[in-house]
Amino acid sequence: MGSTSSLNLPLLMSLVIGCPVAASASNFYQDFDITWGDGRGKIVNNGEVLTLSLDKASGSGFQSKNEYLFGKIDMQLKLVPGNSAGTVTAYYLSSKGSTWDEIDFEFLGNLSGDPYILHANVFSQGKGNREQQFYLWFDPTADFHTYSILWNPQRIIFSVDGTPIREFKNTESLGVPFPKNQPMRIYSSSWNADDWATRGGLVKTDWTQAPFTASYRNFNADACVWSNEASSCKSNPLSSASTNNAWFSQELDSTSQQRLQWVPKNYMIYNYCTDAKRFPQGLPPECNMS
Ligand SMILES: *[C@@H]1O[C@H](CO)[C@@H](O)[C@H](O)[C@H]1NC(C)=O
Repeated sequence: MGSTSSLNLPLLMSLVIGCPVAASASNFYQDFDITWGDGRGKIVNNGEVLTLSLDKASGSGFQSKNEYLFGKIDMQLKLVPGNSAGTVTAYYLSSKGSTWDEIDFEFLGNLSGDPYILHANVFSQGKGNREQQFYLWFDPTADFHTYSILWNPQRIIFSVDGTPIREFKNTESLGVPFPKNQPMRIYSSSWNADDWATRGGLVKTDWTQAPFTASYRNFNADACVWSNEASSCKSNPLSSASTNNAWFSQELDSTSQQRLQWVPKNYMIYNYCTDAKRFPQGLPPECNMS
């Protein structure tokens, strides 16, 4: 046995870099379980691609095997092509229980050629009501695009193809709860929501077009995995020099700040923070932070 074999390498690594788990080649068999839909959810191409389908009888869904407490989580999605009106594809992180935390992407389908809506919401301790909605600057059904959630103790940043579309800052100092104590799983589901999804429920699902299928690939999580009441990030990732952990303290640089203005300015169609009618007692405190 060589002398290096006496080193416990995994332990050493975990102490040195805080051991974030970076999924290497994405494999859906390894990282996810199809949880419902009676065969409508499928893992194909040796685990490289997952598809969720919806028909009149049922939708389908999957969830991650791991729970995470903070991370940068990327997934590529290709949404239901053609007439997807009435359908919703939800892709989100969520904890359990009645005071759950949740970080939410929902994709609201539309008639062929009409724009999908990307809906983004944050729940903390069971309370949401923080919706923002956007059109996209591309056709999300024509190809795969990357949807990312960066979640660290200071902020949540939603990004599309690397462009930040929304930042939800930790404003606990203003009394606003922030998701930071409850580990979350990744979930996705495809379901019928034609009572509200498309033009507020005016356009119904055309079941002659079923099944409606969305596809997923290239999952990547640079994240702290939570298991047996402990985090895989043993030491404070902040203390690490490793760029693998940059997400843990990541803020938006000035380029990203500019892009974060570009998206809301040109593509935002709803923002709870400007919906004064909805909050007659005053806008939520986090809305007064620029
Ligand atoms: C669907 O298209 C209509 C017409 O362009 C638009 O008003 C609506 O916002 C689009 N998206 C959804 C999900 O309703």
